[in-house]
Amino acid sequence: MRLTPAQLRQFNEDGVLILPNLFSDAEVEVLRAAMNRVLTQDNPANIREKKSEVVRTAMGLHVRDEVFARLSRHPRFVEPARQITGQNLYIQQSKINVKEAFTGEVWQWHQDFPTHHRDDGVPRPEALNLHVLLDDVNEFNGPLYFIRGSHRFGPAASIYDTTTTSHPLWVIDPGVVRQMTDKGDLISAKGKAGTALIFGECVAHCSPPNLSPWTRAIFSLILNPVANRFTNPKRPEYIHHRDLTPVTPLHDGCLLDELEPVA
Ligand code: SIN
Ligand code: MN
Repeated sequence: MRLTPAQLRQFNEDGVLILPNLFSDAEVEVLRAAMNRVLTQDNPANIREKKSEVVRTAMGLHVRDEVFARLSRHPRFVEPARQITGQNLYIQQSKINVKEAFTGEVWQWHQDFPTHHRDDGVPRPEALNLHVLLDDVNEFNGPLYFIRGSHRFGPAASIYDTTTTSHPLWVIDPGVVRQMTDKGDLISAKGKAGTALIFGECVAHCSPPNLSPWTRAIFSLILNPVANRFTNPKRPEYIHHRDLTPVTPLHDGCLLDELEPVA
């Protein structure tokens, strides 16, 4: 699947591209069944909320479950990512972020690059983050907010937050967020389950707590150019994978193919 010139223009202008209903209801059903499998596992790659202890992030998914292995090589993700970057890409990270009904906590304003640069030694902000919504996301259940055009600021001054988040995050200085919102309005990434997002390393984003009765889960895949690989592999492999094999796309119907029976 190739992005149209209009979609590429929008991605370059806004720093984020929303692709409504990129995955079908039948595909979402397969993904949600796989999500339920991984979220109930007792695994160190399942990181829990500070207060409620429910799983907030389940990581390392393409090596934990065949369905996520396929999604991470899905042509509707891999082909646009190769088109945008023009490079060979490895799977840096695959995860699901859950914002549980009533209790799901905040993600502060941040760019992804400062964490990848400072914690993993990724040299340049060239990776892409590809999301697929696994629940319908509305204005109430914790959509991601993006600041339109904020990627043009480049890597911003960030503060290491170890207190308000369940795993430490480099968050953007509030003064810089104000400068960014003086230039660009906010985008709320809402949509039906199956909707996808593509965004780069420097676009500012966050998400508010979920006070609604509707849980919100999102799959996230980070693809990074092999030529821009980590230089400081100190975080666990499930946070930054070390396998640099370039991803090649599977066939378009791969999520609906039979799974091998588990032995
Ligand atoms: C979220 O799941 O709300 C935040 C995800 C992200 O920062 O990529
Ligand atoms: Mn992020």
